[in-house]
Amino acid sequence: MIRIAVIGVGGIAETHLKAYISLGDRCEIVALSDIYPQKAQALGEKYGLVCRVESDYKELLKSPDIDMVSICTPPYTHADITIDALEAGKHVLVEKPMASSLEECDRMLEAARKSGKILSVVGQNRFNDSIQKLKQVLDSGMLGKVVHAQIESYWWRGYVYYDLWWRGTWEKEGGGCTLNHAVHHIDMFQWMMGMPEKVQAVMSNTSHDNAEVEDLSIAILTYPNGALGQITSSVVHHGQEQQLIFQTEKARVSAPWKLYASLSKENGFPVRNEELEQQIEQFYQAIPELAYRGHAGQIDNIFTAIGNGTHEVLVDGHEGRKTLELITAIYQAASTGQTVSLPLGPDSLFYTREGILASAPHYYEKKNSVTGFAQNAITLGSDYTKSGDGRA
Ligand SMILES: NC(=O)c1ccc[n+]([C@@H]2O[C@H](COP(=O)([O-])OP(=O)(O)OC[C@H]3O[C@@H](n4cnc5c(N)ncnc54)[C@H](O)[C@@H]3O)[C@@H](O)[C@H]2O)c1
Repeated sequence: MIRIAVIGVGGIAETHLKAYISLGDRCEIVALSDIYPQKAQALGEKYGLVCRVESDYKELLKSPDIDMVSICTPPYTHADITIDALEAGKHVLVEKPMASSLEECDRMLEAARKSGKILSVVGQNRFNDSIQKLKQVLDSGMLGKVVHAQIESYWWRGYVYYDLWWRGTWEKEGGGCTLNHAVHHIDMFQWMMGMPEKVQAVMSNTSHDNAEVEDLSIAILTYPNGALGQITSSVVHHGQEQQLIFQTEKARVSAPWKLYASLSKENGFPVRNEELEQQIEQFYQAIPELAYRGHAGQIDNIFTAIGNGTHEVLVDGHEGRKTLELITAIYQAASTGQTVSLPLGPDSLFYTREGILASAPHYYEKKNSVTGFAQNAITLGSDYTKSGDGRA
């Protein structure tokens, strides 16, 4: 029985609670923490939990009766709480984005290495049937190399979205839609495609003059083998149609799933390769469905790694850092107008939070600050079974 504490009990925390509860007697939620302890108390009661409530998470970390923590606090707190938890000997599942800067990621990785405990960064979309199947199709060798990848991280958020106290500033949210929304797609994308060697980008704040950060960015990526990728990150796209599309030597595949394969006629014009399409389709359909999806899928993956003693999880701290590295490269390229070469290390202008604060454009001043919204239900992104809506 793995004993769990959840730190930060706002919008996403309920998703963690439901996921833990869905895993039955493999775990028990024994503690909740929030700087507003009455919120933690109320959430515990809502789920009928008999658990400890603490306003100071450090008090809670002293307890030897906690094996793992879920960190569901705003991004600027992720590094400190993760490091404290690892140093206290707890396994950690930290919400996305991993941190606000690569310097923080590197400190978190060092703490994980020293502690020998698991550090996993939320990337729940990897635990989605459409995404798992697309990844396996790309890895199958049936398609040849990827030549172009197109990521449409299309979301829509109204003006007041950035009125929440920690959103809309480089300091606390760490960035805009590229960091906090497209992080999901960039995580899946770098998992499938690997890391590029160069990044060019532009960004803008088109519709939210109550936020310092961008609400739209467009990046172009160049891979060592000559392949190109493009990532659009947005919170201004009505309909929230989210897609990952890969053009390979032999076929086009995507999430939501769509397949088209071409062969060349004698004159170079295309003719549909129905035989290959059939083979790929059969391979895709034969892949078994997941036992657990989303956050529950990721937690199942962590529990399995704890159980078998390997401590190897699908989305570990190194994976979280790669995703943040790509996002940081987009910010650096868009802010400086210069092409950015990867990898990014301590000599990068955007390596530290201070570097980002000094060099990223502050589009507008944050105008309003509310502690929470009465209606706190959140959406987690597309289920990739159909185009549009962005609803899980
Ligand atoms: N995986 C997803 O699909 C997904 C969706 C939404 C949000 N998130 C991420 O989850 C995190 C939280 O987002 P949210 O929407 O739940 O925010 P929220 O503001 O609704 O909740 C955050 C909670 O953390 C508490 N908190 C802040 N500092 C704390 C501290 N030092 N100790 C204890 N509690 C503290 C706040 O009081 C609040 O209750 C963010 O990193 C966000 O990007 C992930």
